[in-house]
Amino acid sequence: MKHTPETVVLLDFGCSVSQKLARGIRDNSIYTMVMPRTVPVDRLLEEAPVGLIICKDAAAAEHPEDLKKFQATNIPVMELVVEDDVNAAVDAAVKFCKESCNCHCIWKLETFIDEAVADIRAQVGDGTVVLGLSGGVDSSVVAALIHKAIGDRLTCVFVNHGLLRKGEPEQVQEIFQRNFKMNLVYVDATDRFLDKLAGVDEPEKKRKIIGKEFIDVFAEAAAKVNAPFLGQGTIYPDILESIPFDGNPAGVIKSHHNVGGLPEDLKFKLVEPVERLFKDEVRKVGKLLGLPSELLDRHPFPGPSLGVRHIGAIKRETLKILREADAIVTEELRAAGWYHKTWQTFAIFVPVKTVGIRNGCRSYDYVIAIRSINSVDAVTAQVVRLPWELLEKMSDRIVHEVEGVNRVVYDITAKPPGTIEWE
Ligand code: XMP
Repeated sequence: MKHTPETVVLLDFGCSVSQKLARGIRDNSIYTMVMPRTVPVDRLLEEAPVGLIICKDAAAAEHPEDLKKFQATNIPVMELVVEDDVNAAVDAAVKFCKESCNCHCIWKLETFIDEAVADIRAQVGDGTVVLGLSGGVDSSVVAALIHKAIGDRLTCVFVNHGLLRKGEPEQVQEIFQRNFKMNLVYVDATDRFLDKLAGVDEPEKKRKIIGKEFIDVFAEAAAKVNAPFLGQGTIYPDILESIPFDGNPAGVIKSHHNVGGLPEDLKFKLVEPVERLFKDEVRKVGKLLGLPSELLDRHPFPGPSLGVRHIGAIKRETLKILREADAIVTEELRAAGWYHKTWQTFAIFVPVKTVGIRNGCRSYDYVIAIRSINSVDAVTAQVVRLPWELLEKMSDRIVHEVEGVNRVVYDITAKPPGTIEWE
């Protein structure tokens, strides 16, 4: 399975920016992986690395035993202490790769695609693959890659849980079924989800219902496809963040394959062709495979979708209000050239009625909130100062075009203390 000729492994000895370093080195066409310092040498050697970079923060503890175990491999080793400047650390690492490891700097995403296609064909043989397509970047790129490898032996399942944004189900069908000519099973499970969600206003409960129902609906559709392989849009940070740092499972940031994962008893063999790529590399691969930018360059969108942007119990009428308002926010944001200047911008349905005036009469209608934030990693976020004219335009259109809304407010809370979603 391994074709990439020159791999450099970053060994994490307590480095808060190991992913950033690895990604930075890849910009120089050098393929890098990150492994914890506790990795067994046998496992390391499976990757046949041409160089090892021991990376650590200035304050990290020494681990001489681990250091010795890597030095004993006779692979060139560099010890890199990362001070404040990650770029300087990357420059030093790249110099080491070129000068001490004789890297030829030949790794490219184009070559990655060819290798991934060959790997998928080798893994799947003449078998079939089923893939849950959400319309998000990762599953879309994986669909395009697997389709390139095995064509109509791939079946994608798209579950419409009724909480999608306006036009989303149509867009996914247009791109994958009509343009790419993929086998796409479209399951409209709107009623099933909304019936289960009826009357539930507790946010965690709503999330659990959506998550469980999603797995059930997908599993039923996948069972009909009856494929031995399951395609998954796992990406490299999912893997890295599921490795316990220092061997301690409590140090896991995310639990890979358990995040909305499928029950073990489904017994699929997994096909995960982008599991070694960072998010922006996945986007670039998508672009190279011909996926449209509306799909690749979209704002992050939560799995439970509009479900976490509709406060309180979800009703069909109020969900429609949110969907229409959200579409107006996005449309105006794009028209004003602000879409790509913000990390996330969206509407929230607030189940509070206030008094207003519509057509000269007293109205008693709902509130829509608009939230626009910038962030680098979603851990902290700053409020975007959207132009006043743009906010007024959004507000004006929402109160005039969306029946049931007579007031629009702008959320000016940073994260922390606010979260990005209202839930
Ligand atoms: P919060 O609201 O916690 O959100 O500040 C941080 C980021 O995570 C996104 N988000 C999710 N993404 N599944 C996802 O894939 C989810 O269940 C989910 N919940 C929140 C949110 O949009 C923001 O970018």
